[in-house]
Amino acid sequence: MVQLTLAMSKGRTAKASLRLLEKAGITFPDFDEKSRKLVFYSADKAVKMIYVKAVDVTTYVEQGAADIGIVGRDNILEAEADLYELLDLNIGVCRFVVASLKDIPLTKGTHVKVASKYPNITKNFFTKKGMTVDAIKLNGSVELAPIIDMADCIVDIVETGSTIKENGLQILSDVEHISTRVVVNKASFATKTDEIQTFIQQLKDVLE
Ligand code: PRP
Repeated sequence: MVQLTLAMSKGRTAKASLRLLEKAGITFPDFDEKSRKLVFYSADKAVKMIYVKAVDVTTYVEQGAADIGIVGRDNILEAEADLYELLDLNIGVCRFVVASLKDIPLTKGTHVKVASKYPNITKNFFTKKGMTVDAIKLNGSVELAPIIDMADCIVDIVETGSTIKENGLQILSDVEHISTRVVVNKASFATKTDEIQTFIQQLKDVLE
């Protein structure tokens, strides 16, 4: 019988997350990355996994359509969702930075035009510095914005550093530390406490 529904982010960190779950004894024998199927069941049928876009994971969890989500902290911060963040899986580790073609003073009172896939994180970062900001939302290839003079700088993820390097950008400041996290719906945590605690503990055991 299904006890928990898990929303799993598609993309870069999915493989590593599934490997971690497997080590914890939670396997999805029918999972196939190449298939168009969106719902998978653990071997013991206790966990139903929905395989969804990273940007949507917090929505499924906040709405209660999933009890648990596995997603990057970038998406958690951007969504500003009302949920519990219970565990850092220490995978998908990367930096969230401000980058630009040239040096820009990130000082109080300065106005900047910033391109990002993450307008909320962007606004919060610059507002906290006492700066004013126009956040331009893009859905990808953000590094292009300063090159074509659409923005002064970008706020984006840096993993290997090759995208900013190949486009001639430099890092001006760190914004946040990012990694893959486990998030939990607040109501589920109250009604399925044992199941959720067990799930988290199984993962903690393999992380240690
Ligand atoms: C992400 C991110 C950067 C790049 C950083 O983009 O937005 O552009 O990866 O990785 P790197 O430091 O290893 O080069 P993604 O690959 O998701 O593509 P996108 O530009 O279409 O969003």
